[in-house]
Amino acid sequence: MIIAIDGPAGSGKSTVAKKLSRILGYTYIDTGAMYRAVAYKVKEEGIDPDNPDAVVNIMKRINIKLEPSDNGVKVFLDGEDVSSKIRTEEIGKIASKIARHPEVRKILVQKQREMGKKAKNAVIEGRDTGTVIFPDADLKIFMTASPEVRARRRWEELKNKGLDIDYNRILKEVKERDHLDQTRKDSPLRPAKDAIIIDTTNKSIDEVINQILELVRK
Ligand code: C5P
Repeated sequence: MIIAIDGPAGSGKSTVAKKLSRILGYTYIDTGAMYRAVAYKVKEEGIDPDNPDAVVNIMKRINIKLEPSDNGVKVFLDGEDVSSKIRTEEIGKIASKIARHPEVRKILVQKQREMGKKAKNAVIEGRDTGTVIFPDADLKIFMTASPEVRARRRWEELKNKGLDIDYNRILKEVKERDHLDQTRKDSPLRPAKDAIIIDTTNKSIDEVINQILELVRK
């Protein structure tokens, strides 16, 4: 069984996908982490993220590995644990830039399909998991929420980490990333035709999980 969960940044899809995979005992596949790992390397090497050839070149030389962990997944880049280093707004933005290149997507989509097939039962999360990676997924969920609510969630998350970042700056970044993800020609962020849309603006994580578990049972 493959459960595909897509949606924009801050929709709550990562938290839901992680919890759901734990409850069901399924493999959790975080596709965004792979774009982020490439973005991290691109930044380290000082490569222009808008240059597809340079990005693909570096992808041929790196090894990305996802390993299950207590709080979701650990990400290894050439053996180095980069799990926390890839979770910054800056890396998210570079990830959105490199994710616009069809050549980059082709390489990662192939890897992600292999991971899903190997797992048999998986919760796969990203932007194109129900439209491109697994168009035949057993259950497709598209999670969404207003940009303001998504920015507030991000702001609270950072505040809890002791970082005081201006809310309006975060809102601007959320909207920028939405724009990059929704306007790209290859695999733009959109719900699959047969996806169930869940607006999480006024919903708790547990409410969303229960709704999805109900759908799984059906
Ligand atoms: O989900 P996360 O914020 O970690 O993803 C980072 C970026 O990677 C997204 O903004 C998006 O541009 C890209 N991405 C993608 N396709 C996926 C997962 C992530 O294009 N399946």
